[in-house]
Amino acid sequence: MVSANVLIKAVGLTKKFGDFTAVDSIDFEVYEGECVGFLGPNGAGKTTTVRMIYCFSPLTAGSLRVAGLDVTTQARRIKSIVGVSPQEDNLDPDFTVIKNLQVYARYFDIPKSEATSRALKLLKFFQLEEKRDASIAELSGGMKRRLIIARALLNEPKILLLDEPTTGLDPQGRHIVWDKIRSLRKQGITVILTTHYMDEAAALCDRVLIMENGKIIENGAPQQLIRKYVGQDVLEVEYDEALVATLKSELPDVEVEVWGEQVRVFTKQPHGVFERVAKKFPDKTLTIRNANLEDVFLKLTGRKLDEER
Ligand SMILES: Nc1ncnc2c1ncn2[C@@H]1O[C@H](COP(=O)(O)OP(=O)(O)OP(=O)(O)O)[C@@H](O)[C@H]1O
Ligand SMILES: [Mg+2]
Repeated sequence: MVSANVLIKAVGLTKKFGDFTAVDSIDFEVYEGECVGFLGPNGAGKTTTVRMIYCFSPLTAGSLRVAGLDVTTQARRIKSIVGVSPQEDNLDPDFTVIKNLQVYARYFDIPKSEATSRALKLLKFFQLEEKRDASIAELSGGMKRRLIIARALLNEPKILLLDEPTTGLDPQGRHIVWDKIRSLRKQGITVILTTHYMDEAAALCDRVLIMENGKIIENGAPQQLIRKYVGQDVLEVEYDEALVATLKSELPDVEVEVWGEQVRVFTKQPHGVFERVAKKFPDKTLTIRNANLEDVFLKLTGRKLDEER
């Protein structure tokens, strides 16, 4: 359940590395119980933003409050209520699976017996029980990811930060992680994630913030952004001048995006209009599908349209 309470609030949040501005005066809020996705091309500033939320990276300017606490002066208290699954694998290769969890629990002053009991529960929750005494080198990429997320939950956080939680996982592994994220949300945990998988963002997030060059360029519920930028249907076809001309003349609001030889056509008209036009080109291979968040992402952050066409 998403509440009206603001749990995280950033105002003019800025991070510079020397002269380079990685996060450029962004404002955003995250509500208690929400799942918010940060999307954006490589280098957009997602990880840098997440790192500031968990007090790993100091702000250059602006303000950032987490559960009412100031990240610059109350880092210790914030760290106690936040769980982090970083983008990179930072498991300790010298320890076994369970030992990784037990050692991590020490940062939070969790007593040893309590740490072990939490660790065992989490290993079960993430279907890693059989690997409890395995070394990290024996785990597959997907198992490591699940262990990193399990580790993030040891301190029973209010807020879970997941930086690319499913990158490199097979479809089954991704679905296991999605399922766990959903059940954590049912327990009331607020989730912030970054991802390059638009289906993941659409499946999990109440709201997405799209970043580019350190700025938030758009923000909204996935379905709302799809309606706003793309419409209902998308037609995909190999570029064909006559077909595109017919679509343009018959559908007043048609928008054509050329990606090399491939053309994507968007319309805000109701379902069925593409089929009508497509009938006139029976020898063409046309794909008509629902608009999705990837269309929005490419439109806002992707290559520019081929101006020639
Ligand atoms: N420690 C650092 N020193 C210098 N520049 C950095 C540092 N960390 C990040 N940057 C730069 O800041 C920008 C944003 O990086 P960041 O890791 O936040 O991007 P991202 O959106 O997470 O990208 P990706 O999708 O590739 O993970 C990049 O241009 C990156 O090179
Ligand atoms: Mg990143």
